[in-house]
Amino acid sequence: MINIKVTGTGSYLPKNVITNDDLSKVVDTNDEWIKTRTGIKERRISQGEDTITMATNAAKEALKDSNLDSKDIDLIIVATLTPDNFMPSTACSVQNNIGALNAMCFDISAACSGFIYGLEVASSLLKSSNRKRALVIGAETLSKILNWEDRGTCVLFGDGAGACVIEKGDKGIEAFHTHSIGEKGDNLTCGAYDVQNPYVSIKNEVNEKYIKMNGREIFKFAVKSISDTVGELIKKTSWELDDVKYIVPHQANVRVIDYTAKKLNIDNDKFYTNLDKYGNTSAASIAIALDEMNKKKLLNKGDKIILVGFGGGLTYGGAALCWNV
Ligand code: UT7
Repeated sequence: MINIKVTGTGSYLPKNVITNDDLSKVVDTNDEWIKTRTGIKERRISQGEDTITMATNAAKEALKDSNLDSKDIDLIIVATLTPDNFMPSTACSVQNNIGALNAMCFDISAACSGFIYGLEVASSLLKSSNRKRALVIGAETLSKILNWEDRGTCVLFGDGAGACVIEKGDKGIEAFHTHSIGEKGDNLTCGAYDVQNPYVSIKNEVNEKYIKMNGREIFKFAVKSISDTVGELIKKTSWELDDVKYIVPHQANVRVIDYTAKKLNIDNDKFYTNLDKYGNTSAASIAIALDEMNKKKLLNKGDKIILVGFGGGLTYGGAALCWNV
């Protein structure tokens, strides 16, 4: 049986740190509200780095960590909801920047679940072809699609990128569980171009070009998605939840994690979080967290971990993997 394992990780975060106090000078908010409602203390906001630059830097680090040359990479998938261009794809631009001449490259759009979806698509492509190695990247410049006058959203998000190299191997990703609920898509939106040409002018239903969120609905959806996904993955792998060393969730809100821990009857410490430093970086958040854990040497060969994401679409899903670096 062909398995897919993670063999390297990388990340890039803009240097510009914006604290809650800094934000209180931009919108009517305060450190106390943001910290108690979300757990976020600061986030990184681009001062010029775009999605391609951040994705490229994260990819270079992941390649170095896996001791591979860019020409060894057969596939690059970038998950992003904030591409710099409609065309070329972010993945093709990364390919050009790192010289991954042999790779097939494309982007996927699954909002905050994008990194998980990317991992599943990349794993399937490696398993079903003679391609051996892939770069899966989550990269976002969310600051460009935030309404900086809406305190309900602009305090939640940050910019950044995370990447991992996956390869065919002996042991590694043991199961995926992914799902989409299009009928609930209205709860988290960001509009794009309207159909406008010399013959017609139609306003897009989602006509606001920044993130809009029904926070309370997404909160409930988040708790259910994480607990359902963890449950499904435990069933598929026949693992015991006690044997899982870490659950690495999409980093959105520490209260979501507290509620989920209670629902699953597990300790909060099983969830790895770094959202206090980076806020919600959408498709990048799980990959950034994984890289941070790898760099801190929190993971040993054989450790069982679960990655789980949820977000716009609505989309959610997770991966159960044995760390095998
Ligand atoms: O990747 C996408 C995943 N997204 C998520 O997981 C988000 C899930 N949802 C949440 O995290 C929470 O719903 C939020 C943090 C977004 C909001 O928390 P909440 O407890 O649901 O607050 P709320 O929206 O119901 O607002 C409560 C109050 C309101 O004031 P009034 O009407 O009670 O006077 C808001 O206007 O808090 C006010 N408020 C703020 N006050 C200070 C909203 N945003 C702010 C703010 N600073 N930044």
